[in-house]
Amino acid sequence: MASPLAEAEVVRVRASGKINLALRSGPRRPDGYHRLATVFQAVSVFDELDARWADAGEFSITVEGEQAELVPADDSNLAVKAARLLAREYGAGGVGCALELRKTIPVTGGMAGGSADAAAALLACSVLWDLDTSPDDLLELGAKLGADVPFCLAGGTAMGTGRGDRLAPVLSRGSYQWVLAMDDGELSTPEVFRRFDELHPTGSAALEVPPSLLNALISGDPVALGQSLVNDLEPAAVSLRPQLGRVLRAGRELGALGALVSGSGPTVAFLVADERAAIDLSVGLASEGLGRAIRRVHGPVPGARLIS
Ligand code: C5P
Repeated sequence: MASPLAEAEVVRVRASGKINLALRSGPRRPDGYHRLATVFQAVSVFDELDARWADAGEFSITVEGEQAELVPADDSNLAVKAARLLAREYGAGGVGCALELRKTIPVTGGMAGGSADAAAALLACSVLWDLDTSPDDLLELGAKLGADVPFCLAGGTAMGTGRGDRLAPVLSRGSYQWVLAMDDGELSTPEVFRRFDELHPTGSAALEVPPSLLNALISGDPVALGQSLVNDLEPAAVSLRPQLGRVLRAGRELGALGALVSGSGPTVAFLVADERAAIDLSVGLASEGLGRAIRRVHGPVPGARLIS
């Protein structure tokens, strides 16, 4: 296949991390996954991926940035798997790529960092290789790579059902300010779901996103949103990593409108009223020495986007 871009040219994509504002889980299904009812919000913590042409069948990746040493720089990286899958399905065997990944989304942190990188690779390589893929084609490929990948392509605010990969729009007004407490450890998502199964053999009591949460988003009311946040995986994450309980309590005592473990953790997300409250809470958490790093972010933001 002829390269439509000069070899030196680069396609750069930025992809965002997510918080689950609500995560309700049913019991484990025969395929090992759990049926979810979740509301995602993409937030302003980003990974960046550059893609360049390489010889047909050649796929490589380099990783830089925060916690880069925890990310595999080989074929097991989800971004490489995404590029290979796209090449297999649409590239007619004639494409390859060299990827450069810069991380700031916490690694194994419950914010879909790996899924964001896969979403970025699908978009970057489809542009690099000038493939005839529609947004729906990419969503379908994304779902084969991981349950959160379709949302990482879409961004914004969305409801996820099925494994979390079937998306529907959610009306959301305004912008929300968050403080993230990044943990200095990792939590494996399968392990957290296994603990959830032990704690709730039949799944959560109600596989339903609280109507109050959807109403809060419609009216753009951070106080009501803070009271409606729910994560069925939180007790499992806290039981595997008890210090998360301390972090949650500290943020609430310091005035957060709401607090929850993000996805399967261990990142903890605090909703605050405004920028001023975000600064105060960040300073308070940092002075108590809680977390590897404290970061202020906002959402919703777009999903994977071309930036050059
Ligand atoms: O799809 P993904 O590879 O991101 O999921 C990682 C793991 O999280 C799965 O292997 C499964 O153990 C767990 N999971 C689940 N139910 C979901 C999503 C993820 O049990 N809906």
